[in-house]
Amino acid sequence: MALLEFKNVDYSYPSGDDDFVRALASASLAVDRGEFVALVGCNGSGKSTLARLANGLITPDGGEVLVDGKPTSDKSALYDIRRKIGVVFQNPDNQMVTTVVEDDIAFGPENLGLPPTEIRERVDWALDCVGMREYAKSGPFRLSGGQKQRIAIAGVLAIKPELMILDEATGMLDPEGRREVMNVVKRLNRDEGRAVVMITHFMEEAAEADRIIILDRGEIVADGGRGLFKTPEVFTRAGLDLPLPVRLSVALRARGIEVGTPLDADEFVAATLAAISAEPIPPQAADACAKPENVLTDDVPQADGEGDAETEAENGGEDEP
Ligand SMILES: Nc1ncnc2c1ncn2[C@@H]1O[C@H](COP(=O)(O)OP(=O)(O)O)[C@@H](O)[C@H]1O
Ligand SMILES: [Mg+2]
Repeated sequence: MALLEFKNVDYSYPSGDDDFVRALASASLAVDRGEFVALVGCNGSGKSTLARLANGLITPDGGEVLVDGKPTSDKSALYDIRRKIGVVFQNPDNQMVTTVVEDDIAFGPENLGLPPTEIRERVDWALDCVGMREYAKSGPFRLSGGQKQRIAIAGVLAIKPELMILDEATGMLDPEGRREVMNVVKRLNRDEGRAVVMITHFMEEAAEADRIIILDRGEIVADGGRGLFKTPEVFTRAGLDLPLPVRLSVALRARGIEVGTPLDADEFVAATLAAISAEPIPPQAADACAKPENVLTDDVPQADGEGDAETEAENGGEDEP
């Protein structure tokens, strides 16, 4: 049984008199234990709505959201659901409940009824994870936006949910802070088997996930493995950027140089060297490739379905030179 399952979920927000905004339409997905999924989409595509639905903050107008088989519409299951699904939302100001950082982080574990020694251990561990131990006694309202966001992340870490959803939670951090949080989340996933759904508009972060779900105007238009990047148009069609190595490989392909689908700088350099020669690339040559052309091609059939995506996923994206 999937840890989290959306079955044909519709959700609309009331807007004005009799009007409404459709935020999610017939969305279906499943996240299993231990998975690392990136959820990407433009502003307003429904990502935060999906996160709110996942932990029962809102319930679907149509369809069902199930956590371990229990519908979020069942109020008696909510406590259990929130213990299993932890969400770090975009705005850290709305997530602080106490006036001392360490109390704030202890709030979740206390609600779980854990013994005081374990609560202490979890609070210290969570503070260390986000590099904020020295702020344990501070008042959250005196912290910067990025620091508050780290505390919010620590608060959810301390609950050790089976699935952690980060809703653009690293948006207020500098690149180094983002890297640190990403490393913590990856460790949690790899070493403790916790599932992660990373909602992000940083495509380099998305490229680190095992699986990517693309939302476009409330609809899931792709759901597959890293091999999805082999069809860059599914991203650009949804208004998304591509990770730099993918942009470069698309530009090279347009010039007749096939380097496969490298997803990070090391893979890109290795694949490019293998494709052109064993010589190192002079810096000027790298500059010349940086402008992506023909990334958007209108004549490519839409890879909108699970069919394409899953086939790509099975390929794994690693079988090219
Ligand atoms: N509280 C709200 N009231 C009315 N409309 C909303 C509200 N929250 C989101 N929406 C609308 O729902 C759609 C999806 O929003 P959201 O889930 O926040 O997208 P994302 O997180 O991808 O930016 C957008 O059109 C947005 O304007
Ligand atoms: Mg959002």
